[in-house]
Amino acid sequence: MDNYFTSLISFYGNTSPRELIKKYGSPLYVYNESILRQRCREMVSLVSYPRFSVNYSCKANTNLELLRIIRQEGIHADAISPGEVHILLEAGYKPEEIFYISNNISKEEMRTIIDKGILISIDSLSQLEQYGEMNPGGSVSIRLNPGLGVGHHKKVITAGDDTKFGIDLELIPRVKEIARKYELKIVGINHHLGSLFMEGDVFIEGAKLLLSVAKEFSDLDFIDIGGGFGIPYRKQENEPRLDLRNFGKKLSPILENWAKEYGKQVEFIVEPGRYIVAESGVVLGKVHTIKENHSTSYIGTDIGFNVLARPMLYDAHHDIEVYKINENCLEKNYNKVTIVGNICESGDIIARDRLLPEIAEGDIIGIVDAGAYGYCMSSNYNSRLRPAEVLITAEGKDVLIRRRDTLDDLMRGFLP
Ligand code: LLP
Repeated sequence: MDNYFTSLISFYGNTSPRELIKKYGSPLYVYNESILRQRCREMVSLVSYPRFSVNYSCKANTNLELLRIIRQEGIHADAISPGEVHILLEAGYKPEEIFYISNNISKEEMRTIIDKGILISIDSLSQLEQYGEMNPGGSVSIRLNPGLGVGHHKKVITAGDDTKFGIDLELIPRVKEIARKYELKIVGINHHLGSLFMEGDVFIEGAKLLLSVAKEFSDLDFIDIGGGFGIPYRKQENEPRLDLRNFGKKLSPILENWAKEYGKQVEFIVEPGRYIVAESGVVLGKVHTIKENHSTSYIGTDIGFNVLARPMLYDAHHDIEVYKINENCLEKNYNKVTIVGNICESGDIIARDRLLPEIAEGDIIGIVDAGAYGYCMSSNYNSRLRPAEVLITAEGKDVLIRRRDTLDDLMRGFLP
């Protein structure tokens, strides 16, 4: 259980966690360009169906530099807020490369997105009416809820019978009625079952449900079958990867046959977020305190839930690596410890009762697989500064891609 994850793939290039923290401060998000590109390429070649595209769901990580790399890999994007659209355009994405997956948006927001020439996915009958009034004759996509959901936690299941998302398949006749009334062209349908599945079969089952109703729409140019592709967060326990090759092999003929029956080679789209970025990111932090409290050994670090919210929000597991202060020290003793941050809440726990190599004050720890839903969910809670972000380039060089917050950033927005 040594640091095989990052050492195996020389994650830190020509530098080391210690040098990075000395140079950029702690805590610190570090990304590896080669891993990011590799994950993009795996997704792009998922199926053999010729009109296949990947939209990166940029809610997972909107760092400008990472977005540029992802775009270079031939991947477009989905966005869910005007803020995401703004960042994507800054990163060089063209409006036609962005798909706006709307959810309970204001008319002003709808207007903004239409005016930018970005295609919108509509999530309810009432928003379809609003869209029709605003943009009669326009083209839209309809987000359907096929009745089946997946996810690593109930908070991230986005289809099925207990979620606010999507339009019930039974309402399709109403969708068509509204579309007729405003002469809307339904050019796409989309769905998203939820976040994180490790077996492709459930995704395929969902896709089949969507395809079983897709023929009711006669003008389709694309069908977006969602994201949710999982990554193995328990690599230290040898959790297997999602078998993308096998999954793609099963999915390809389903898409091909459907298109043949429909009589048109529609575009099939997937919208992964996590799979693209999660494994390219690590959060580094420093151990400041070690203490025993009522028979628990606490390792006190500077990685609070303001830096990485996933463990606190979803009880999510992240593997942890220990980089000893003395880099030549090969630690043989293992202890059960609870790793905590520096936020004033008892729930500020990164890992509870985790068996790790003996840790000393001054050591550095790395929370791995933190590239997705890491920095983008960080905050200034407790008026702490959000960390810097650094990229390890394909050549192994370290480059600052976002500076650490400053105290002045905390004052932004206050009137004099
Ligand atoms: N498409 C839609 C419409 C979505 O809502 C999402 C994620 C995705 C695509 C991308 O899902 P992914 O491929 O990343 O699983 N903060 C949570 C995850 C929330 C996911 C929200 N929607 C976490 O840290 O696990």
